[in-house]
Amino acid sequence: MGFQFIVLLLFILSSPALAKLIPRFPSSIVRPEQLAQITNNDEAKPYETRYFTQIIDHFDFNPQSYQTFQQRYLINEKYWGGAKKNAPIFIYMGNEGDIEWFAHNTGFMYENAPHFKALLVFIEHRYYGKSIPYGGDKEVAYKNASTQGYLSSTQALADYATLILDLKNNLTASESPVVVFGGSYGGMLAAWFRLKYPHVAIGALASSSPILNFGNLTSPFSFNNIVTQDFRSESENCYEVIKRSWTQIEETAKQNGGNITISTDDIESWLSTAYIYTAMTDYPTPSNFLNPLPAFPVKQMCKAIDNPVLGNDTFAKLYGAANIYYNYSGNLNCFDIAGDNDKHGLQEWTWQACTEMILPTDGNNKESIFPASSYNYSERDSYCTSLYGVQPRPHWITTEFGGTSFEEYLKQFGGHYCKRRCPSCGLEILDEGRSKLVERSKENGDSLHQ
Ligand SMILES: *[C@@H]1O[C@H](CO)[C@@H](O)[C@H](O)[C@H]1NC(C)=O
Ligand SMILES: *[C@@H]1O[C@H](CO)[C@@H](O)[C@H](O)[C@H]1NC(C)=O
Ligand SMILES: *[C@@H]1O[C@H](CO)[C@@H](O)[C@H](O)[C@H]1NC(C)=O
Ligand SMILES: *[C@@H]1O[C@H](CO)[C@@H](O)[C@H](O)[C@H]1NC(C)=O
Ligand SMILES: *[C@@H]1O[C@H](CO)[C@@H](O)[C@H](O)[C@H]1NC(C)=O
Ligand SMILES: *[C@@H]1O[C@H](CO)[C@@H](O)[C@H](O)[C@H]1NC(C)=O
Ligand SMILES: *[C@@H]1O[C@H](CO)[C@@H](O)[C@H](O)[C@H]1NC(C)=O
Repeated sequence: MGFQFIVLLLFILSSPALAKLIPRFPSSIVRPEQLAQITNNDEAKPYETRYFTQIIDHFDFNPQSYQTFQQRYLINEKYWGGAKKNAPIFIYMGNEGDIEWFAHNTGFMYENAPHFKALLVFIEHRYYGKSIPYGGDKEVAYKNASTQGYLSSTQALADYATLILDLKNNLTASESPVVVFGGSYGGMLAAWFRLKYPHVAIGALASSSPILNFGNLTSPFSFNNIVTQDFRSESENCYEVIKRSWTQIEETAKQNGGNITISTDDIESWLSTAYIYTAMTDYPTPSNFLNPLPAFPVKQMCKAIDNPVLGNDTFAKLYGAANIYYNYSGNLNCFDIAGDNDKHGLQEWTWQACTEMILPTDGNNKESIFPASSYNYSERDSYCTSLYGVQPRPHWITTEFGGTSFEEYLKQFGGHYCKRRCPSCGLEILDEGRSKLVERSKENGDSLHQ
């Protein structure tokens, strides 16, 4: 899961060349206009919103670590069988965005709650949505490395453990088993939570979580290879048209009399965002996670590209493909190709991507549907150092959570490893705990997000 990251992140980049340094996945999947829809939606929500007083630093006892902030969580008790019956508690581990948006896109938990008589809880990740330290003041919280320094996956997991235990205590539900859920970065958190807090959660379901995409465990070409394969398996022509289009765009821009008012970098980013996100949300049903999309949207994009009426008009084909991703609803008057702003303050993923979330996903080999490029860690390093004055720690995640032989030690927790067709699935781990959720998820079409 994730989101329009390239575009979303562009606003902080002074040079287009730097845009390529930002990891494409997972990134901020929340698009501002979607957030606005949620915020403006006054319909009865299927949960109650609560806040919990959380400590800013769980890992030392310096006086400043005792500062607190309000962490938002959403709770739905409608299906819960109750503490007396030890009915289970399903927890969604919030990822890098507004928790309401994830709650609205995780029908899977609602679908399974009646069967399991489960309590549903969605916890927001610190520094996102309304769970902002420093009195909820984003300007202060996002100001510099000293104030953002408390944003990390380990702090987030400790928040979740603290909140879950306190909630169980309040509900006198100490015997109710907890199962955690998440997708993308939230899926990584779910899997890691299960490893780090086995006394708190009996199981985790991690969907599309690129948990092995750290260090040198996964090839930096793997992500884009899977995107390539998704398109190529629909049609060889579709793959070739897209693959050839990058030089066509650049050549056209160079031609005398070419009237291009936007940079080719912006166009290329905008197009590749469409391909990548469509591959990432290639659900078998119509969906509206990142954007409204038809069922099997990669197939639909390739149909647009293969449309015989368009002959050899590459740009008309690209327009048709982009229209699937950006304008399936047909409501758009204009494409906003060059930019995005961050009026909803979702940029904190960049901090995470510059500190511990060093996911080498942007390499492209010569077969890739995108132009060939290598993955260059030192570019990321210098970008992050200049942006925040902090150096990334590329070894930290695998030191803290493991990586090599992850499958082996996950087995000790009843874990399963699942490969599917989405770009991160070569990197995905699924832990079914002791429940039957996995089987149920297959029956229901396999996607945690829809
Ligand atoms: C970061 O901002 C805070 C709040 O304004 C300030 O107290 C602190 O000195 C700043 N830290 C750095 C490293 O600039
Ligand atoms: C548990 O109850 C206490 C006292 O009412 C409250 O302050 C705290 O926020 C509650 N915990 C959770 C997770 O809601
Ligand atoms: C990946 O391998 C290179 C070359 O062996 C090494 O320099 C680098 O530290 C490794 N990176 C990580 C994050 O393990
Ligand atoms: C270039 O495109 C812009 C916007 O479509 C138009 O206003 C302008 O007249 C064009 N210039 C030339 C030289 O064609
Ligand atoms: C498309 O391009 C090919 C090769 O350049 C050419 O042979 C063919 O006639 C073109 N088709 C159309 C419909 O323009
Ligand atoms: C979006 O789709 C509608 C309906 O097909 C079309 O009329 C409109 O021109 C499209 N918007 C853009 C920006 O192409
Ligand atoms: C990686 O980027 C750095 C600049 O940050 C450059 O000096 C180096 O040559 C690049 N390495 C490769 C293999 O492209």
